[in-house]
Amino acid sequence: MMSAQKPLTILGIETSCDETAAAVYQDGSGVLSSTLYSQIELHKQYGGVVPEIASRSHLEKINPVVEQALSQANLTTAKEKKPGQLHAGLTTIDVIAVTNKPGLPGSLLVGVCFAKSLAWTLQKPLIGIDHLEAHIFSSCLENQVPFPHLCLAASGGHTALYIVYDFGNYHILGQTLDDAAGEAFDKIAKVLNLGYPGGPIIEKEAASVDFKDFFAYPRGSQNPGLDFSFSGLKTAVLYDLVKRNAYDLHSKKLLNTSEELKKQVSSSLLVCVSDIFKQKIERALKQHPDIKAVTFVGGVACNAYIKAHLKEICTRHKLPFFVPSPQYCGDNAAMVAFVGAYKARRNQVSDLFLDILK
Ligand code: KG4
Ligand code: ZN
Repeated sequence: MMSAQKPLTILGIETSCDETAAAVYQDGSGVLSSTLYSQIELHKQYGGVVPEIASRSHLEKINPVVEQALSQANLTTAKEKKPGQLHAGLTTIDVIAVTNKPGLPGSLLVGVCFAKSLAWTLQKPLIGIDHLEAHIFSSCLENQVPFPHLCLAASGGHTALYIVYDFGNYHILGQTLDDAAGEAFDKIAKVLNLGYPGGPIIEKEAASVDFKDFFAYPRGSQNPGLDFSFSGLKTAVLYDLVKRNAYDLHSKKLLNTSEELKKQVSSSLLVCVSDIFKQKIERALKQHPDIKAVTFVGGVACNAYIKAHLKEICTRHKLPFFVPSPQYCGDNAAMVAFVGAYKARRNQVSDLFLDILK
């Protein structure tokens, strides 16, 4: 077991999708640095993440991003490193934590291989981190969140509800059976030619028409449990557009569509997703009266409209509600380093055979 006295300094590395991220976290002090290179500009023209482009970009950026995190953490008074030398800050790092699942295999491999090389060179422990566990505990980076709590995690790749009993101890209550919530925003934004990523654009469009529900898209009443399904919603939006002569199913093209209609679709979609989240949270709270707080994490948790509506439920139930600040909602390495810290304390370390996606 690692020393309980000395604060541990963890280098976190995250390359599971389209962000190359590194962070230094020190228990007792918190996040010392968190750096990130976003590939959004590279993938924009394709309307989604292209795996091959993502992994190549991670390869290019991983070294500078990690060095930047080490420099910004101010771990050493040593001058900047000379070419060919290791960064002086590495001598202060006790543990290397890296996302090894789930994600794009080619992207995960870049981070894992980089972390393994560092761990071997420095002879420091390596810890493989589950990206979803990192998102779940991202709410604890800036807050003391009581246990057990309910966590709604919603991003471009995942949407799930968890009951969280303690650090590293959680149970999934429901998850999406098909598309993720963020994916629904991204796909509909693509259909409407609004750009990528769709979530923030849909929110802006919806705000311009005061978040009104124009089209009453289905809320998934056929799905009464705690699982989610967003692909049906996407289809419902498409068929509604066809009905309005705004979309051609055969050529998969948007027809002459007014800016007003795009705003109305965006607004109706956002209100619908928010209502589905509200419905599931209410249901989960009813099933688990011992819950002491609610958290909302992942890229979709940047959405101010959804946040405000979930907060309302929590206020009604007299429960505290926690959402990480935006830089910790989307993919980041601070959450990876944070999970690395409690795993290191428990000696839950990996070996150099650590693989991706297991
Ligand atoms: O967590 P994240 O950065 O990456 C994944 O792990 O997927 O989440 C990205 C997702 C995208 O689908 C994006 O459209 C969505 O989060 N997103 C939003 C907002 N900002 C980002 N969705 C709704 N409203 C937003 N403001
Ligand atoms: Zn993520």
